[in-house]
Formats: sequence, C-alpha cells, structure tokens
Amino acid sequence: MIPLVVGASAVGSLGSPAVYYLQKRHEMVSTARGEAARVAVILQDVVLQRPLFWRYDTSKIAERLTSEGVGQHRPLIVLDARGVRIPLGSDAPPEGVLWGKSEVYVAGKHQATVWIGVSTQPLLLGTLTLGAVSALLSTLLGGLLYLIPTRAIAAAERRISALVAQLSLTLQEEERGRIARDLHDGAGQALTAARLHLASLRKGASAGLSVERLAAVAGHIDEAMEEIRRSTAALRPPALAELGLRGALERHGEAVAAAAGIEVCWSLELPTSLEAHLETALYRIIQEALTNVARHARASRVSVVIRREGRGLQLIVEDDGRGVNPGQARGGGLASIEERARLLGGKASFLVGSPGFRVEVELPMEVE
Ligand SMILES: Nc1ncnc2c1ncn2[C@@H]1O[C@H](COP(=O)(O)OP(=O)(O)OP(=O)(O)O)[C@@H](O)[C@H]1O
Ligand SMILES: [Mg+2]
Repeated sequence: MIPLVVGASAVGSLGSPAVYYLQKRHEMVSTARGEAARVAVILQDVVLQRPLFWRYDTSKIAERLTSEGVGQHRPLIVLDARGVRIPLGSDAPPEGVLWGKSEVYVAGKHQATVWIGVSTQPLLLGTLTLGAVSALLSTLLGGLLYLIPTRAIAAAERRISALVAQLSLTLQEEERGRIARDLHDGAGQALTAARLHLASLRKGASAGLSVERLAAVAGHIDEAMEEIRRSTAALRPPALAELGLRGALERHGEAVAAAAGIEVCWSLELPTSLEAHLETALYRIIQEALTNVARHARASRVSVVIRREGRGLQLIVEDDGRGVNPGQARGGGLASIEERARLLGGKASFLVGSPGFRVEVELPMEVE
C-alpha cells in the first residue's frame, strides 16, 4: 500500500497543467506588452533623431531594434500611422504567439503601432512535460507491474537539472527564467517522485513484470529530455551559433561603432572551450553594456576586456563617456546583468568614473 500513497501524493503535488498553462499565458502576455512598450520608446527615439531614416530605411530600424536587444522577441510588426505594415524583415507570424501592442507618439502625434510576439514554445513544452509526467505516473500507479530502471531515471533527473540550470542562465527574460524554474519544480520533482515510487516497487517486485513496458517508460523520459534540450538550443542567440562568441561580439561591436560613432577596443582572453550557457551569458552582458554605452554614454571609446582571474573570468566594459549619477543607474538592463552574474555564482558591479562608466563582472567558474 505504501507505494500507492507515495504515488498518489506525487500526482497530487503536480497541480493541473491547465492552471499552469493559464498562469504562464498571462505572464507571457504581460511580457509581450512590456516589450512592445519598450520598442515603442526606442522607435520614438529613432523618429526624433532621424525622420528620414524612419521613413525610408526600415532595415536600419530593424538593425537598431536588434542592437537594442529586442531582436529575440520576433515576430515584430510595426504599422505606420495609417495602419500600413512597415516591413522590418521579420517573417510572417508563426502560430501560437502571444501578442502585446503599444503606440508610438512623437510630440503628441501618433506615428506607429508596435506589435510584438513572444513564442509560446517554452510554455507549451512546460505544459506538455507536466502532462507527460503526470500521465506517466498514472500509468505506473495503474499497472504496478514494472521493473525499476532506477539508474535511467536518475540519469534523466541529473540531465534535467543540468538543462534547467543552463536554461536559466541562457534565458534573457526573467519570465522565461521562471518557466525554467517551473520545469524544474514540475518535471524535476515529478521525476524524483517517479524514481522514489519505482524504488519502492522494486522492493515488492515479483515474477511476471513487463520489461518491455519499462523500456517504453524510459523511452518516454528520454523523449521529454530531448525536447527540453532542443528548446534550450533554440534559445541560444543565432549570432553565437553562427560566428562563435568572439565573432558574434565583434560583429555586435561593429554595429555599435557604426551606429554611435564609438571606437570599440577588444581584449578577449577566452578559454578554448566555454559551455554554451556561459557563452550566452557573456554575450548578453556585453551586448547590454555596449548598447548602454551607445544609448547613454556619449562616449568616444569603449574597451571590452575578458581575462582569466584565478579559476574564473573577469569581464570589464569601460567607456570614457559622461558617466551617470549612481542613483540613476537602475534599469532593466543593469538588473539583468546582475541577475545573470548571480545565477552563474558571480557578481556584477557598476562604477562611475570621471569620466566614464564601468561594468565589471566576475564569474568564479571552472575554466580549462
Ligand atoms: N555607459 C553608460 N553611460 C552613462 N550612463 C549609463 C551607462 N549605462 C547605463 N547608464 C545609465 O544607467 C541607467 C540604467 O541602465 P539600464 O541598462 O539598466 O537601463 P536602460 O538602458 O535605461 O533601459 P533598458 O532596460 O532598455 O536597458 C540608464 O538609463 C542610464 O542613465
Ligand atoms: Mg540598458
């Protein structure tokens, strides 16, 4: 009877996938709204600075949005004041996208409407995983006829924890980070419960247990792991996959240099191999710091240094611009740099020089 009780409480603790879906949907719609408002502010800036740029060179607008770090929120649709779509090089919206909308006004005049989508893939994945695990548990409870692939499940659990850790470090948006934690709390906990349950079944195992059905259970778990791995890979910035960290950074630096007329100097002492989630974190941090220099610093030069520091890495992005009042250096970008560093077990600090601004990140990690 004990296995039944353990299993039943495991199922009870899963919660309903439908409720999970609705909560996440609500959060993602809010994200899309927030992002649309952010894009609207950027576009207002563009229209104010370069009216002709706005009217005639929409590919540059797309570039600017990408360099401002909103490119990953595709699909993005901007309609002009007459409601005509301004092509920004984005594809037709895929299915299953949650939309947010915001208006662009300059001097009280309506210029455009911004629509921005957030992919529902992580949401569906989370729900599917919860559903699959819960179905799996019910099958186990109903049949009670399984050998115990404890080792396979334990390995799957370790993989899911590693993937979840990578997921939270790779994802830029806090909402997606939350989904990662939910995957951990949902799928991870459920797998633990499944393992405990199977372990207790082993104790009572008798002849006639079905090895084939157990193999099928292990196969289902592997499939779930593989799906999560694929979705993590898809969240990696495309420039990284295409050019590697150094190439992607230099390309981004060139865009910043061209757009803001700033000299970007590099000194990158990179380990020969870095895990994908660390590369992504470094890329995103440097991207945000450079974007800030282009947007706020009025600098003529910025240097980006990555060097080994003991068993970790130190990153410094320093400009010679106007600096900022420490009380004002509070925004989503700097907060996200801090959060990334913290998730990697490191820390970030922001130093106002005279002149200039310095972002310093220490990552106490194993590098070879
Ligand atoms: N290199 C810099 N030079 C001068 N001021 C800066 C620099 N970097 C950041 N700041 C100041 O710090 C503030 C907070 O930066 P943060 O990146 O957090 O937010 P943001 O750039 O305003 O908005 P976003 O959330 O889009 O990044 C900026 O608004 C700006 O005033
Ligand atoms: Mg910023």
